[in-house]
Amino acid sequence: MTPRNRGRLTVLADATQIARGLGDLFLNRAKSAIRERGAFCVSLAGGSTPRAAYELLAKEPLRDEVTWNDVFVFFGDERCVAPDDPRSNYRTARDAFLESIPIPAHNVHRMRGELPPQEGAADYAQTIRQNLGDSPRFDLVMLGIGKDGHTASLFPGTDPMTDDAQLVRATYSQETGTDRLSITPCVINNARTVVITAEGTEKAKAIATAREGDYNPTATPIQIVAPTDGELIWLIDHLAAGMLEKK
Ligand code: 6PG
Repeated sequence: MTPRNRGRLTVLADATQIARGLGDLFLNRAKSAIRERGAFCVSLAGGSTPRAAYELLAKEPLRDEVTWNDVFVFFGDERCVAPDDPRSNYRTARDAFLESIPIPAHNVHRMRGELPPQEGAADYAQTIRQNLGDSPRFDLVMLGIGKDGHTASLFPGTDPMTDDAQLVRATYSQETGTDRLSITPCVINNARTVVITAEGTEKAKAIATAREGDYNPTATPIQIVAPTDGELIWLIDHLAAGMLEKK
């Protein structure tokens, strides 16, 4: 078995430091991608953890450091709800920063959660293929981790490699009772940089299992995250790191 890529772990003081670290990473990767390739393609994380970083990107100094015309925003996963639904990851990002920055509307590619799930998955796979080709390589994929070890919308109980080549998969969250859309591991692991953020005690067990437990991605899907030619960065706070042997 290939050695697991556990990535680079940074343990920060609190949620504020995570937001700053994530905002600075976004800016750093955006600048280098635009300098080197003329564009920055990013897949945003869902959930609540990244919101504070999104809000930092919506105001000075970070907002004015990015040439938003050259930024192309995608989503790593979505709840199968309308874009104005409070549960929508698109709405969270729109409200937190997309509507406050000078990014052209056509640079933002939301997952169409309002479609029937299988249709929504096929639709977004086509969107990714049209914009990044058949082997999409994001400059930055942002991820969170659930207390059950899920990431994006890859949940325990299903081998994360199932229909991996589809690029986007329809899944179901038992915890929230919602249909979901998620990019698949081949998309995540083809990225130049993957960053996982987590805060709080409730994530400590999942993080310890993910990084130090037996390798079983069906039980702990985030273990499948191992960029093949890229870097993996964890930005977590002390509470989320609380059950790690090695910090
Ligand atoms: C989602 C996510 C999911 C999230 C984790 C952490 O749509 O909920 O993409 O993978 O990142 O569940 O969520 P929190 O940041 O809210 O703890």
